[in-house]
Amino acid sequence: MINDKKFLITGASGQLAKEFASSLTRQGSDFLAPPEDQFDITNADQVRDMVKDYQPDILLNCAAYNFVDKAEDEPEMAFKVNARAVSILALVCKDANVFPAHFSTDYVFDGKKKDLYTEEDKPNPINIYGESKLKGEEALRERLDHFLIFRLSWVFGAGRQNFLYKLLQWAEGKETLKVVSDEVSVPTFTEDVVKMVLLALEKGLRGTYHLTNSGKCSRYEWAKYFFDKKGIATEVQPAFLAEFPVKATRPAATPMANKRIRDALNVSIPTWQDATERFIKKIES
Ligand SMILES: NC(=O)c1ccc[n+]([C@@H]2O[C@H](COP(=O)([O-])OP(=O)(O)OC[C@H]3O[C@@H](n4cnc5c(N)ncnc54)[C@H](OP(=O)(O)O)[C@@H]3O)[C@@H](O)[C@H]2O)c1
Repeated sequence: MINDKKFLITGASGQLAKEFASSLTRQGSDFLAPPEDQFDITNADQVRDMVKDYQPDILLNCAAYNFVDKAEDEPEMAFKVNARAVSILALVCKDANVFPAHFSTDYVFDGKKKDLYTEEDKPNPINIYGESKLKGEEALRERLDHFLIFRLSWVFGAGRQNFLYKLLQWAEGKETLKVVSDEVSVPTFTEDVVKMVLLALEKGLRGTYHLTNSGKCSRYEWAKYFFDKKGIATEVQPAFLAEFPVKATRPAATPMANKRIRDALNVSIPTWQDATERFIKKIES
C-alpha cells in the first residue's frame, strides 16, 4: 500500500512539493519535506545524510531551477540543479534502494511538431532550461533501472510561481492586457499531477510518462478563460511572442499527449478548463 510508504520530498517550498505535502498529510502518510537550506540537492553529503537518517521508500524530486530566461545567463546553475544534482539523487537512491519519481518538462521538445508530443518523440530542446532538464532525465535513466519520470507543462497550483498568479498581478489596475497567442501547450494543475503520481506509484509503473491535464491551448486562451471564470474585467488581447523581449527562445507548440499514463492507470484526466475552475475555487475559498 502506498499509504504505508515513507516519502522524502525535495524543493519543499515549490508549488508541486506543497501539493504533495498536503495530499500526503490528508492520506496520513509519513513524509519529510525539509526546507531547501537544509536539503540542497546539489550537496551530495546533505542528500546522502538525509536519506540515511530518514530512510524513505520513495523520493519525490520536486526541486528544480525553473527560471527559463535567467538560465540563458547562468547556465551553470541550471545544469547544476536540473542535471548534476539529479545524478547525485540517482546514485544515492541506488545505494539506499529508494525509488525516485522525477519531474521534467515539455520544453525538452523543440515545438515544431504539428501534433501532440508522445513519449516516442525525440527530444530536441532549444533553450538552456530545456537542455538542462533533458540532461536530468538522462542522468536518471543512465544510473537506474527503475524510476518514474513525468514530463509536465505549464504547472499551476499553490504559491506565486505560476502563470495565473502572474496574470492577476499584471492585470491589476489595467483595462487591457496583451498575452501571447503563438505559444501553445497544456496547463497542468498540481492537484491532478499529485493524484496521478500517487496512483502510478501504487500501481508500480516504471518509465517515462507525459502527465498533463487534457486538451491544449495558447497562453492567450488560458488567460481569457481564467479571467472570464474569475470575473476579472481586464480585457485580454492576443499578441505575438516576438512582441515581448525575452532572453530564452520558447518552443512554439509543445502540447503533450497524456494517453500513455491514462491507459496505464485506466483513468481519465480532467481538461485544463476543469482544472482552472477548480483552481479558482481553491484560491477563493
Ligand atoms: N512550473 C512550470 O510551469 C513547470 C513546467 C514544466 C515542468 N515543470 C517541472 O515540474 C517540477 C515542479 O515544478 P514547480 O512548478 O513546483 O517548481 P517551483 O515552484 O519552482 O519549485 C521548485 C523548488 O525547487 C527549489 N530548489 C531550487 N534549487 C534547489 C536545490 N539546489 N535544492 C533544493 N531545492 C531547490 C526552489 O527553491 P527556490 O525557490 O528557493 O529557488 C523551488 O522551491 C520541476 O521539475 C519543474 O522543472 C514545471
